[in-house]
Amino acid sequence: MNKKIYIRTFGCQMNVRDSEVIAGILLKDGYKITDESNEADIVIFNTCSVRQHAEDKVWSDIGRFKNGKILGLVGCMAKNYQEKVFERAPNVDFVVGPSDIDKIPAIMKILISDKKGTVPFGDSPFFERKIWETDGVTRPEDIYHTGYYGDKERAYVVISEGCSNNCSYCVVPFVRGALRHRNYKDIIKEIKEAVDLGITKITLLGQNVNSYIYEEVNFIKLIELVNGIRGLKEFSFVTSHPKDTPLDLFKAMADQDKLKKYLHLPVQSGSDRILKLMNRDYSRKFYLDLAQSYRKMVKKDALTTDIIVGFPTETEEDFQDTYNLVNEVEFNAAFIFKYSLRPHTDAARMVDDVPKDEKERRHKLILDLQKEISNGKKNDLS
Ligand code: SAH
Ligand code: SF4
Ligand code: F3S
Repeated sequence: MNKKIYIRTFGCQMNVRDSEVIAGILLKDGYKITDESNEADIVIFNTCSVRQHAEDKVWSDIGRFKNGKILGLVGCMAKNYQEKVFERAPNVDFVVGPSDIDKIPAIMKILISDKKGTVPFGDSPFFERKIWETDGVTRPEDIYHTGYYGDKERAYVVISEGCSNNCSYCVVPFVRGALRHRNYKDIIKEIKEAVDLGITKITLLGQNVNSYIYEEVNFIKLIELVNGIRGLKEFSFVTSHPKDTPLDLFKAMADQDKLKKYLHLPVQSGSDRILKLMNRDYSRKFYLDLAQSYRKMVKKDALTTDIIVGFPTETEEDFQDTYNLVNEVEFNAAFIFKYSLRPHTDAARMVDDVPKDEKERRHKLILDLQKEISNGKKNDLS
C-alpha cells in the first residue's frame, strides 16, 4: 500500500509532538508521509482550540480539501466540537480527539476499504460514512516509541498529558482531559531511544511540568535522571505554572549542566484582582519574587512569559499593573494574547466586556514595550 498522508499542525508544541506520534504510527502501518498536500490521499488537520482565531483558521482552510481525499480533523477542536464538526464541515470524514489518536490506523482501514461513492450520497443517512472518536481518556504508551521525530537533532518528549488546573479562561483541561503523568521509566526509555537515533537536544513537554509526579519521582528528580542520560547534550522544559514552581527547581537548573537556563513562566496578568478571577492561585508579589529568585539563582538565564489582555472586567488600572510588571521584570520575550471567550470555561459565564479596539490598544502597548526591552537586551549582549 502506498497511500500518502499529509498532516498539517496548528497550536502548541504538544500538537507538534502529537503530529509526529500520528505520523509514526501510520508509517509503521505502511503509509507514506508527504509534505505536499496535493499529493496526499489522506489529509489530517491537527487542530487547536485555545483561541477563537485558531479555530477560525481551520474552518476556513478545511474547505479547500475535497476531490477524493480522505479528510480528518484531529486534536483539540475535535474534542471541542465532536460530531458537530460534520455539520460545519461536511467534507470531513473523521474526527479524532487528542486522547484517541492511537485509533487513527484502524479508522484509516475502515475509510479506505469503505467503497466510497458506491452508495449515492442522498440514499445514505448523513452520518453513515463518518467516524468520530473523542471520548478516550488515556493513550497507550507504545505510541510514543515509534522512533519518528520531525527533526534529526531536537525532539519533544511528553512527560504529562492533559491539565487539572482550572484557569478560568482556558479550554485546555476540557479538550485535553485531566492531568496524567507518564511513568518516568517510559520517559527515560523514550529519550534513550531518541538519543540512539541521533537526537541530542530534547524539550520535556507538559501543560504544567512542575507538578510532575510518578511514584517517588517528582519533577526535580526527573530532571536529574534526564541529565544523567549518556549522549544527551542539552534539554529544557515547558510550561511552568508559577504556583507549582519551587525554588529547588532553580537550584536544580543551576546545578544540572545539560539543562538550558531557560524558563517559560506565564504570568497572564499583573493585577491581583484579575489573577484571582483567572483562578491562577498566586499574587503579583509572589510572581515578582519568584522571577527575582530565578534571576539570582540561575546565572545567564532567560525568562519568557505569556500575557492575556482584555480579560472580562479588566480596567485601565488592571492593565497598568500588567504593563508595569512587564516593565519591571524585563522578560527576554513575552507572548501577548487578546482574551478570547472559550466555551466550557468558567470565564465564559462572564461578559466579554472589554471592547475589541481596547484589547487591540492594550495588546499593542505591551507588544511595543516588550520590543523595546528585547532590543535593549540584544544590545546588552553585543
Ligand atoms: N499550560 C500552558 C499553556 C496554555 S495555552 C500554561 O499554563 O501557560 C498558552 C497560552 O495561551 C496561555 O498561557 C495563555 O496566555 C493563552 N490563552 C489560553 N487561553 C486563552 C484565551 N481564552 N484567550 C486568550 N489567550 C489564552
Ligand atoms: Fe490552561 Fe491553566 Fe492548564 Fe495552562 S495551567 S493549560 S493555562 S488551565
Ligand atoms: Fe491549542 Fe490544544 Fe495546545 S488547545 S494550545 S493545541 S493543547
